[in-house]
Amino acid sequence: MRTLAKQNSTIVEPTGMDNWSPDHGHLLDVRNLNVEFRTRDGVAHAINGASFHLDRGESLAILGESGSGKSVTAQAIMGILDTPPGYVTGGEVFFRGVDLLKLPEDQRRRVRGQRIAMIFQDALSALNPVFTVGWQIAEMFRIHKGMNKSDAHSAAIKLMERVNIPAAAQRAGNFPHQFSGGMRQRVMIAMSIALDPEILIADEPTTALDVTVQAQIMELLKELQAETGMGLILITHDLGVVADVADRINVMYAGRIVESAGSRELYARPAHPYTEGLLDSIPRLDQTTGELSAIGGLPPNLTRIPAGCSFNPRCKYARDICRVDPEPPLVELGGGRSSACHFTHELLAGRLAPVAVLAENAVADPVPAAEEGINE
Ligand SMILES: Nc1ncnc2c1ncn2[C@@H]1O[C@H](COP(=O)(O)OP(=O)(O)O)[C@@H](O)[C@H]1O
Ligand code: SF4
Ligand SMILES: [Mg+2]
Repeated sequence: MRTLAKQNSTIVEPTGMDNWSPDHGHLLDVRNLNVEFRTRDGVAHAINGASFHLDRGESLAILGESGSGKSVTAQAIMGILDTPPGYVTGGEVFFRGVDLLKLPEDQRRRVRGQRIAMIFQDALSALNPVFTVGWQIAEMFRIHKGMNKSDAHSAAIKLMERVNIPAAAQRAGNFPHQFSGGMRQRVMIAMSIALDPEILIADEPTTALDVTVQAQIMELLKELQAETGMGLILITHDLGVVADVADRINVMYAGRIVESAGSRELYARPAHPYTEGLLDSIPRLDQTTGELSAIGGLPPNLTRIPAGCSFNPRCKYARDICRVDPEPPLVELGGGRSSACHFTHELLAGRLAPVAVLAENAVADPVPAAEEGINE
């Protein structure tokens, strides 16, 4: 079933959104988004021309190491950027054909939470410790749907059952600290879907949870998506977590999308060396940490992104061309796949050989003196 129940909704539509249909384009269409943070240390270029889209019923993972711009992308879509120091300096975020960046704040507020909802890693701090969980979920229905206390309470319990919280009627009377991490995240998911959003953005929703619970939460998100037809954006640093859930994956590095592909294609054969590194670092069952150990070094300081390909100081395939501007553009490879690497075709064909062994502590600058040209 892929329909969205909108009965009883008291949403006042921002101009133009109601006239949209999927024939008009993507449900969410982010074009050339640029975000910078103006800090004392300089301007951090957090998002540099990111473009991507999401349709109804689709799940898109945004994958990348810490600091690659995943959360800032979500914040820009939601309109909850930390301003100052963060500013959207370019681009468009079309939702149902309307550029959210141009909407007045009161209209944007109606989109936020109701039509585009978001959940975060830290469910405990997102919940109010002094109110019961049932009361907090019911509050969504009281405020946004005008339900009376008793109807809202019943709706809250139903929703708790829907996210598989056992003994929901009883547990509705518990406080957040009486729930386990996984159950708290279920409560957050319940609150996020209470108003039948068309898009749910989940920012590292399972990072604080153990592996078994992670899988259960992912399964729940997948089920809810199939039920409601909502679009799902899953933000994660862990490729392993989104393996079975995402239809497509956008790989981000230094505020850019460096590869975009269907999950299966991406797993089968990465088209970008950074994706290859992430794939190599999926934690095995016998490992206890989710550390990305396979890629040496750290992502660059975003106030000083290296010239050329921003991944070049850490890339074992980097040649001269990789260290000079312009950066490799994101090129369509066909079949909905794209990659931003000068040597994508060679990598896909299995013909790209490493040219340098990088030090474990390689950083973005200074640029290491790689041995050029070997094996080319
Ligand atoms: N509140 C902030 N103040 C200054 N810079 C920020 C802030 N939030 C994010 N940034 C910058 O944006 C970059 C991307 O952050 P973020 O999107 O949170 O990364 P992640 O991919 O881990 O979610 C950070 O590395 C930092 O340079
Ligand atoms: S462009 Fe060069 S440095 Fe960048 S990922 Fe490709 S091979 Fe590596
Ligand atoms: Mg983040």
